[in-house]
Amino acid sequence: MSDDLTIDPVYVTDTLIAEDIDAYLETHQHKTMLRFITCGSVDDGKSTLIGRMLYDSKMIFEDQLAALETDSKKVGTQGQEIDFALLVDGLAAEREQGITIDVAYRFFNTEKRKFIVADCPGHEQYTRNMVTGASTADLAVILIDARKGVLVQTRRHSYLCHLIGIRNIVLAVNKMDLVDYDPVVFDAIVKDYTEFARSIGIENFTAMPISGFKGDNITTKSANTPWYSGPTLIEHLETVEVLSSLDADKPFRMPVQWVNRPNLDFRGFSGLIATGSVKPGDAVRVLPSGKTSTVTRIVTLGEDLDEAVAGQSVTICFADEIDCSRGDVIAIAENPPEAADQFEATVVWMADEALIPGRAYWLKSATQTVSATVHQPKYTVNVNTMEHMAAKTLDLNAIGVAEVTTDKPIVFEAYDDNRTLGGFILIDKITNATVAAGMLRFSLRRAQNVHWQALDVTREAHAAAKNQNPAVLWFTGLSGSGKSTIANLVEKKLHALGKHTFLLDGDNVRHGLNKDLGFTEADRIENIRRVGEVAKLMTDAGLIVLTAFISPFRAERDMVRQMLPKGDFVEVFVDTPLEEAERRDVKGLYKKARSGALKNFTGIDSPYEAPEAAEIRVDTMTETPEAAAERIVERITGDWMPTI
Ligand code: ADX
Repeated sequence: MSDDLTIDPVYVTDTLIAEDIDAYLETHQHKTMLRFITCGSVDDGKSTLIGRMLYDSKMIFEDQLAALETDSKKVGTQGQEIDFALLVDGLAAEREQGITIDVAYRFFNTEKRKFIVADCPGHEQYTRNMVTGASTADLAVILIDARKGVLVQTRRHSYLCHLIGIRNIVLAVNKMDLVDYDPVVFDAIVKDYTEFARSIGIENFTAMPISGFKGDNITTKSANTPWYSGPTLIEHLETVEVLSSLDADKPFRMPVQWVNRPNLDFRGFSGLIATGSVKPGDAVRVLPSGKTSTVTRIVTLGEDLDEAVAGQSVTICFADEIDCSRGDVIAIAENPPEAADQFEATVVWMADEALIPGRAYWLKSATQTVSATVHQPKYTVNVNTMEHMAAKTLDLNAIGVAEVTTDKPIVFEAYDDNRTLGGFILIDKITNATVAAGMLRFSLRRAQNVHWQALDVTREAHAAAKNQNPAVLWFTGLSGSGKSTIANLVEKKLHALGKHTFLLDGDNVRHGLNKDLGFTEADRIENIRRVGEVAKLMTDAGLIVLTAFISPFRAERDMVRQMLPKGDFVEVFVDTPLEEAERRDVKGLYKKARSGALKNFTGIDSPYEAPEAAEIRVDTMTETPEAAAERIVERITGDWMPTI
C-alpha cells in the first residue's frame, strides 16, 4: 500500500548513539520486546496514534508527525530494523509465497522496551492481513472513536485478536477531546464492550481514555481526565507481560530446524525454543519417535550455555546417537506433546480461490511439513455477528472450523497452549502460494483409537501367489479421448498373458460405489480419492489395476501417486485434442454441453489439467488403440517390471 513516507531510523534523536554507540547498543540489547497490533479504521485515528507514539518516543520529528496526521494514507514504512523480525515470523516469512499482505510494521523504543507495531487495515476484506499481523503479537490495541462507540468492526477485530490468541487487549477510547473528556461517555463504551467481550470469551482488557491527536494519556497522564486513575498507554505497553516470558514457564519444546554436524566430533540439533527452558543434564524426548536421551551441551554463537529459554535459538547435543532430524520436536522427557494425524482446527482462508475440501495441500507447522486435507467445514463464523453458518467451502477471508487430516502424524499442542506447535499454514501444492492459516484445537480420538491392523498374508505374499508385480495403470484424458477403449485392450492382452488384472472404469464406478457423486470440482476430487483407495487395496491384493477416469486435476492424480509405493503408479495420458474428442462425440455429451444442457463438462466449462510428466503418453491422432495397447503392455511386462 503505502510507503511514500519514509521514517528513516537514523533520525533517532538519542544522543547516546552519537556519543557512545556501544553503550547505546548495550542498553537496547537487554530490553524486552513487545509486539503489538493496532486495530481500527483510519477514521478511528489509528495513524495519528501511531504517529504520536513514534513522536513521543523520539523516533520521528514534528514535521513528520504532522505529515502523518494530515495524510494518514501515507503512513507505512517497513523500516530496516524489523527485517530480523520478519525472518522469524512464520507467517510473515510466507509473504514471498504469493499473497500480498498489507501490514506495515514499525519499530520504536522507549527507555524500558523495544516495540514492533503491526498496523493492519481494518476492513473486512483485510481479515487475512489482520490475522498475519496478529499472529506474533503479544497485545492488541483496539481503537474506538469515543463519538461512535463499539462498532461492528470493533467486534470483528476483537474476535480475530482473541481467535489468534492475543490475551492482552487494550480498549483505547480515542478522540476523548471531541467528547469533552466526558467520563459518562467513556463508562458507557466500556460497559458495552465488556458485555460483548464476555460473550466471545475475552476475560480481561484494559480500557483507557486517550486522544492520539492531543496526546492525552499516551506518554503522560492527562490533566483532562482526572477521573481516570489507570496507566498511560505507553506505561501499560512498557509493563505488560510479553509472550516469551509466559512461554518460558511452559514445558520445554524445540522444533528442530536442522542437524548441525560440522565434523564427526560434533552433532547437535538446532532450532528456536518454542516454550520452556532446558539445561545440560535434562532428560529429553525426540518426537514423534519417542526416543529419549540426555542433554550434554547447549551451544549458541560458539558459546556453551548453562540454560536456554523460550525465544532463544540454540544447538542442543545429546548423550546418545539417537535419530533426530528436521521436523522432529525435542521435548522434556516426562511431559511430551502428542502426535496425531486428525484434528479439529480453525482455518482462516487467505486465497482468492476457495478451499477445495478433500484436496491435498502442504501443511506447515513449526518445522514440520506434511500433506493434509481439510474436510467440508462444520461451520463458518460470521466475523461481524459471530454467528455460525453452514458452509461447503471456505472463501477468501472466511473463518471456519473443520477437520484436518494429515498423511502422517505431526507433533502438536493445542494453539491456546502453544502458538508454535498449534499454528499452521496451508500451501497450494501447485502454485506454492500460502492459502490459509490455522489453529489446531485438539486431535480427534479416532486417530488414536483406530490402529492399522497388521496382516499375516502380506501384500508381497498376495503378489507372489499371482506371480506378478502389482501396479496401477492410471489412464487420464478428456471424455471421449479413448481411455476406456485402450484400457480395455490392455487388460485383454494382460489377461491373455496370464496376469491378474482389474479394470475400474469411470462410467461403471459411478453406477455403484460413486453413484452419490456428480461433476462439481469437489465431487470429482472425491471420485478420484475413492478410486485411488480402491486401486490401492487391489494392488495390496496383488492385482494389476487399470483405471479409466477423466481425473482432470493434477493434484488428485499426484495424491494417488503418493499413496502407492514408488514406481507402482503408471500414469497414461491419453492425449486427444478437445476438437477431436468433440468431433467423435461418441456419447453425444459434447453436443449437450455446448447447448448448455449439461453443466461442468470437462473441456467445455470445467478444466482439464494435462499431465506434465506422465510415464506413458498416447497420441491418439497418430497411434491406433491397438498399437498403443501393445506398447503399454510391453512397457509394463518388459524389464521395467520383472516377474517375481
Ligand atoms: S472424473 O472427472 O470424475 O474423473 P469420470 O471419469 O468419473 O470423471 O466420469 C466421466 C464420464 O462421465 C464421462 O466420460 C461422461 O460419460 C460422463 N459425464 C457426465 N457428465 C459429465 C461432465 N459434466 N463432465 C465430464 N464427464 C461427464
